Amino acid sequence: MNEKVLFSDKEISNNLDKLAIELDIYISNLPKEERNKVIFIGLLSGCIHFVSDLTRKIKSDHKLAFIKASSYLNNKRGDLTIDMNIKSIDGHHVIILDDICDTGITLNSVVNKLSEGSPLSIKTCVLVNKILPNKQHKPDYKVFDVDDVFIYGYGLDYNEYKRNLKDIRIKIG
Ligand code: IMP
Ligand code: MG
Repeated sequence: MNEKVLFSDKEISNNLDKLAIELDIYISNLPKEERNKVIFIGLLSGCIHFVSDLTRKIKSDHKLAFIKASSYLNNKRGDLTIDMNIKSIDGHHVIILDDICDTGITLNSVVNKLSEGSPLSIKTCVLVNKILPNKQHKPDYKVFDVDDVFIYGYGLDYNEYKRNLKDIRIKIG
């Protein structure tokens, strides 16, 4: 397979340093009594390396949880189900972390679902945002923008493989 590295591990790490500073500033600007009521929620499986590397760069105190959000049934998009007790986000500022925002359908559904609880706020943060018209959701924070191309590595899968790559790649040719 001919491929090229789109974002190197060094570039990812440097950009995560900047994002961690941005998120620390966001948290430090919350009302004082709410600053320790922050929960990051990663969407499995693509978020794994992003969450692990990013949260270890964040200095502010926070909780960390993961959910598996599935909106596909027999390859058709169905209602979103999440394996989380929504009550656990009550009274918290939620920051959802995902690998990529493509059409935005997943993040839009997850935000709607979590809004059924009583969080103080919900923000979304992705490693990669695809530039597309008519997105159903635009993330509040993003590390990289890409055109409408298929990418893999650093958590993003290519038919369930390649999540272990240290960098993000694109097929060429
Ligand atoms: P959505 O279209 O924004 O709902 O994206 C749904 C999911 O599709 C993402 O969370 C990824 O798991 C997957 N996905 C979308 N684009 C790519 C890609 O370029 N590479 C790997 N996975 C992708
Ligand atoms: Mg995903």
